[in-house]
Amino acid sequence: MKKIAVIFGGQSSEHEVSCVSATTIIKNIDKSKYDLVLIGITQDGRWRLVEDVSQIEHNTWRESLVDAIISPDSSDHGIIITTDGAIKKERVDAIFPVLHGLWGEDGTIQGLCELARIPYVGCGVLASACSMDKFYTKVVVDTLGIRQAKYEPVFKNQLSDMDAVVARIEKNISYPIFVKPSNAGSSKGVSKAHDRAELIDALNEAAKHDRKILCEETIVGREIECGVLGGTASGVGEVISADEFYSYDAKYNNEASKTVIGPELPAEKEEEFRKDAEAIFTALDGYGLARVDFFLENGTNDVVFNEINTLPGFTGISMFPMLFAAAGVSIPEQIDRLIEMALVRYDM
Ligand SMILES: Nc1ncnc2c1ncn2[C@@H]1O[C@H](COP(=O)(O)OP(=O)(O)OP(=O)(O)O)[C@@H](O)[C@H]1O
Ligand SMILES: [Mg+2]
Repeated sequence: MKKIAVIFGGQSSEHEVSCVSATTIIKNIDKSKYDLVLIGITQDGRWRLVEDVSQIEHNTWRESLVDAIISPDSSDHGIIITTDGAIKKERVDAIFPVLHGLWGEDGTIQGLCELARIPYVGCGVLASACSMDKFYTKVVVDTLGIRQAKYEPVFKNQLSDMDAVVARIEKNISYPIFVKPSNAGSSKGVSKAHDRAELIDALNEAAKHDRKILCEETIVGREIECGVLGGTASGVGEVISADEFYSYDAKYNNEASKTVIGPELPAEKEEEFRKDAEAIFTALDGYGLARVDFFLENGTNDVVFNEINTLPGFTGISMFPMLFAAAGVSIPEQIDRLIEMALVRYDM
């Protein structure tokens, strides 16, 4: 029996999504092979030992009076549990960080696992950090010759000369312009600017989320996503948004948004998405899993890369688990493979 610590919740804007993903993952882990320790991180950053998945489903886990943290001391190879001031250590074989967004999908918790020398599921520090940062992702993907929206990075301290920033953006990109914090997630701080006044507002808004901002040409087309598990791409899926763009609300709160597995596509396009997804995953030094998001541009039928998520959602409406299930890899099997890959990550 291997002991796996599942860590969920977290301090990002995707805290709630993480709790739902964790529920799916915990319920689908093979209990005959793995013993679980559940650790929830509250939105304000407290680490709690959680007894049972039902406490996540009933939203009561935050009341736990027992703390549990990963010990950075590699000789512990595990966690430190504190109950009423009494400390106990527990060895774990691997960590499954089911955390989306900042402080979970961005290399931070991966760094802690590395320090502790505990194997963990998913991408390492570099791939996680680079994939979280939309600007650096662009720089890496440019080396592959895969098309991306034209972009212009802006640093927060440059906004003091707003006229110069606006002139530089307008010189390279025409309206409407997407403005995004480089490191964020769930469309927080993302806006679509139709004119100069909106661009200025959008830059100021994005600057509240990150000191690095990315401005992008608007791609008019369909949104196509592809999963990668252990370096191999799944088939593709399409997201059809009920809003002007696939925002957090459109995704989780709007019933009219939908996900189509195996959408109708022009011949050969599916292969191109799959090949590009694998190349991007490799170029970013991916490990374990990722979901790679693209556009299929109207008119040109060009495949245009948008972003990569190194810890894709595992909720009931999430694309990654559905794509691999459609390819014949059940959710329990996906999880099993992820844990197997985690356990051998330091053997290579
Ligand atoms: N350059 C673009 N052209 C057209 N639409 C875009 C562009 N960039 C983003 N969008 C739209 O905005 C949505 C959110 O953008 P993006 O995926 O880059 O941000 P995010 O913060 O990572 O969001 P999430 O984590 O919810 O995917 C996209 O799914 C798409 O609908
Ligand atoms: Mg996205």
